Amino acid sequence: MIAVRNGRAQRARLVAVGAHVPERVMTNAELERLVETSDEWIVSRTGIRERRIAGPDEAASDLAASAAVDILERAGLDPAELDMVIVATATPDHLFPATAAIVCDRIGARNAASYDLMAGCSGFIFGLSQAAGMVESGLARHVLVLGGEVFSRILDWTDRSTCVLFGDAGAGALVSAGDEEETTGFLGFEMGTDGGGADLLIIPAGGSRCSPTDPAYDPAEATIRMNGREVFKFATRIIVDSTTRLLERLELGIDEIDLVVLHQANIRIIDHAMRRLGIVEERAFNNVDRYGNTSSASIPLAMAEARDRGRLHPGDLVLMVGFGAGLAWGSAVVRYEPVLGALSPP
Ligand code: ACO
Repeated sequence: MIAVRNGRAQRARLVAVGAHVPERVMTNAELERLVETSDEWIVSRTGIRERRIAGPDEAASDLAASAAVDILERAGLDPAELDMVIVATATPDHLFPATAAIVCDRIGARNAASYDLMAGCSGFIFGLSQAAGMVESGLARHVLVLGGEVFSRILDWTDRSTCVLFGDAGAGALVSAGDEEETTGFLGFEMGTDGGGADLLIIPAGGSRCSPTDPAYDPAEATIRMNGREVFKFATRIIVDSTTRLLERLELGIDEIDLVVLHQANIRIIDHAMRRLGIVEERAFNNVDRYGNTSSASIPLAMAEARDRGRLHPGDLVLMVGFGAGLAWGSAVVRYEPVLGALSPP
């Protein structure tokens, strides 16, 4: 991309969402055969009934690229028009090059700058904020923000407290320039981090702290370690605090939000936050029961499914909240303004 301000007043709009999940479904019954657990325990503590698992040849870029194709087809955008591709992921194909570079090659985004963004399950919201900033400053016209996750590769399949929670998916959204007068776009973001909680959700080994070349390296430590109770407390608090701060600043009531899409980590976290914030069931969309926690893909995956099920409509005001490793969190309020099929100039 060449980023030169175009001098036009433009707003960033969220014009398309899309998703792709692997074919293989893993049920709780299957997990009962792997670890000492039960469908009853998993459903009552998490709300999860099944999740998708990537095939042996599928990596994050494969899931993200398929989601990208879905999004671009819906928007009718030629991939060569993309200025930037951001892939939020905690499970990149490689430590480098960026998964986003591989995605660009796969989809034909030959004019795009690209990079990966690591912010745990808040990655999609952080990516949206960067996309909105690039577009609104006039430096970009089209930015693709993807979440691509293959958590099945970083789970300890003998640890029942984590292996039942996660699933694999790719999903994302296209952020494009719209005319100032006609577009509502992104109303605001509230984001933050508390690195003091870094140890609560961590992959201890495999990075520069303890690399595979370190004599002390233990492959078992290259999987997720989580203090579930502390993460639970953080999540329930931060969804409420972040949403309250953002809505107050926007002078919006929760009743003015048409659809709430919270990061799909655990139905108990979601239910708790909905009760505290006074969100009625008809205004929220959840699909954690079928996909588990897909980290940075979970919010756009839920949005895409909400659209397919007639729960997300053009013009809807959407509240999204992500939270997770870091500890990091991010909320956004955006007007969903889909363009159907004709974004590229003829
Ligand atoms: N099956 C059966 N028993 C289990 C399982 C399992 N899969 N996992 C844990 N247990 C046991 C524990 O060993 C413990 O047994 P003990 O009392 O004999 O020691 C008992 O169940 C209770 O364990 P708790 O950890 O207290 O269970 P809790 O009710 O807190 O639920 C859970 C655990 C589901 C992990 C919960 O803490 C949670 O949801 N935390 C948030 C996790 C999360 O959402 N993380 C991701 C957010 S960020 C991101 O998305 C990356």
